[in-house]
Amino acid sequence: MAREFTRVGVVGLGTMGAGIVEVFARNGVDVVAVEISPDALARGRATLTRSTDRAVARGRLAVADRDALHARVDFQVGLDALHAVDLVVEAVPERLDLKRRIFAELDRICRPDTILATNTSSLGVTDIAVATGRPQQVVGLHFFNPAPVMKLVEVVRTVVTAADVVDDVEALCTRLGKVGVTIDDRAGFIANALLFGYLNQAVSLFEARHVTREDLDAAMTLGCGLPMGPLALLDLIGLDTAYEILNTMYRHGGRNRRHAPAPLIRQMVTAGLLGRKTGRGFYTYDKPGSAQVVPDPATPTAVDDAPGTTAVTRVGVVGSGTTAADLAAVFAAAGHQVVAVGADGPAGTAGAVRTALDEGVTRDDPDPSGRDAALARITWADALEQLADVDLVLEATAGEPDTTRTLFARLDEVCKPGVVLATTTSTLPVIELAMATRRPADVLGLHFCTPVRARTLVEVVTTVRTSPEATATARAVCAALGRTTLVCDDRAGFVVDALLFPYLNDAVQMLAAGYAGVDDIDHAMTLGCGYPTGPFALLDAIGLDVALAVQRALYRESREPGLAPAPLLHHLVTAGHLGRAAGRGFREHTGR
Ligand SMILES: NC(=O)c1ccc[n+]([C@@H]2O[C@H](COP(=O)([O-])OP(=O)(O)OC[C@H]3O[C@@H](n4cnc5c(N)ncnc54)[C@H](O)[C@@H]3O)[C@@H](O)[C@H]2O)c1
Repeated sequence: MAREFTRVGVVGLGTMGAGIVEVFARNGVDVVAVEISPDALARGRATLTRSTDRAVARGRLAVADRDALHARVDFQVGLDALHAVDLVVEAVPERLDLKRRIFAELDRICRPDTILATNTSSLGVTDIAVATGRPQQVVGLHFFNPAPVMKLVEVVRTVVTAADVVDDVEALCTRLGKVGVTIDDRAGFIANALLFGYLNQAVSLFEARHVTREDLDAAMTLGCGLPMGPLALLDLIGLDTAYEILNTMYRHGGRNRRHAPAPLIRQMVTAGLLGRKTGRGFYTYDKPGSAQVVPDPATPTAVDDAPGTTAVTRVGVVGSGTTAADLAAVFAAAGHQVVAVGADGPAGTAGAVRTALDEGVTRDDPDPSGRDAALARITWADALEQLADVDLVLEATAGEPDTTRTLFARLDEVCKPGVVLATTTSTLPVIELAMATRRPADVLGLHFCTPVRARTLVEVVTTVRTSPEATATARAVCAALGRTTLVCDDRAGFVVDALLFPYLNDAVQMLAAGYAGVDDIDHAMTLGCGYPTGPFALLDAIGLDVALAVQRALYRESREPGLAPAPLLHHLVTAGHLGRAAGRGFREHTGR
């Protein structure tokens, strides 16, 4: 018969434990909430109160339900209070010695039938289980931060966990309104193995001063639609916890350099800059435990001392693919005169631009005259000479390197002096295109995140030769379109792709290793981390050939073994399984 969980214990009421207490108590389960000292207990109680008060203020919890929730929680110091519970969830710091000690104690204190669960993010559940005399009753129960919000729970079974224990814990997850994904015991499980490589890489970019903290976070929220930027998320997770998770994954997950903690994380932990919990991490907060960011010396000032910009009214767009059509539509809808040069002739490009306007750019405008006016601002051309009087050129041809270099040499010949020549490339070094012209100071990258209609971020990519004036002009043009810009160096992948594609590649590696399936991995990232799309759904949408090309460029530049394209990605591309557009990628797509 399935176990009834009427009374559970939670050990450690920090960032995760307090949220886990809330999840149980909200769902009618009595909780014994245990901390190590009266002070820590008071902090845990305050965290629960803050969270439930916030839920009441936002209309998500009735006052009576909040009071009933609190009445279900029995706050206690010391593990002895857990002698009569049906299940214990441990959420103490990520240290194996500490967790093993606590599990040995719990084994002594709790009833013989009590299930013991750990919320560890990266430690071996097996290593913890064998510290008890009941390893068959030990599981991982990995909640995500914030526990009351995130739907996913990874249920980790070891080689000795009893099947009925897993079944009962899965049923409990459902009762708590969570989606339980059951997996084997491996460092980082699904979500953290994918999330932390990305977070660590983001810290490295920041540490290398490749990009500011605000731009880095904006890159991933505006450029990829993630709920939080990586540095803000690390502050939420806690730098000490993040360090321990990375360190464990590095040591027990095959010494993958993507998990070797960036030196800055260690330094911040040593300095006590642990994130929100200490009031300071990558950002500064108004007090410890608060989510309210306050300005500090690193906060950018509003004043922009940009040098003079060149006025841009006429824009040339070169290319006949989706990006070129979207850009022509975006600029024309914003009131610019556009000269669209398409290799397939005006007719093909015009159809795509009309679709772009209908589906996105002027979608919210019920009056078709807006679309018609935008279309009327576009001149369809089939020769580069017609770009002689434009003020800015956007190249969106996605061509081979040699072809694109030749194209820039031609643009240099036909365009008037001082015109900014921009490439939208994701894979070519911008400096190579700049050096194909006699005006490298006027050449830069304008990387519009895709889909261009939905994502508002533009990466302004400057080379070692780009002039401040060209950069200022590019930023001003994007600002006039209502787009957010970030300025970054000419490195493979810039910021967004440099962080996004290795994570997608890691997901493919995980799939190929047989650890989890396409659906479970996608669920882990959408339900556990709040991502808008799982990695395989995203890869199928982007195109596996595009992903492979970007990943190759990243690997070519860095030679980091962890960035080598996953062989499975290569095989699927070779087999023609290119994603949604081809009808098949990681999933079958019918009715395209
Ligand atoms: N922070 C996250 O985003 C996150 C997400 C998922 C899982 N986890 C995992 O959850 C666990 C806890 O992480 P956290 O970030 O909440 O840590 P935390 O440092 O915020 O909280 C740990 C709490 O445990 C308490 N504690 C320490 N020793 C204790 C003992 N002997 N008895 C009772 N309480 C004790 C501490 O006083 C502290 O309040 C870790 O295993 C971590 O990997 C963390």
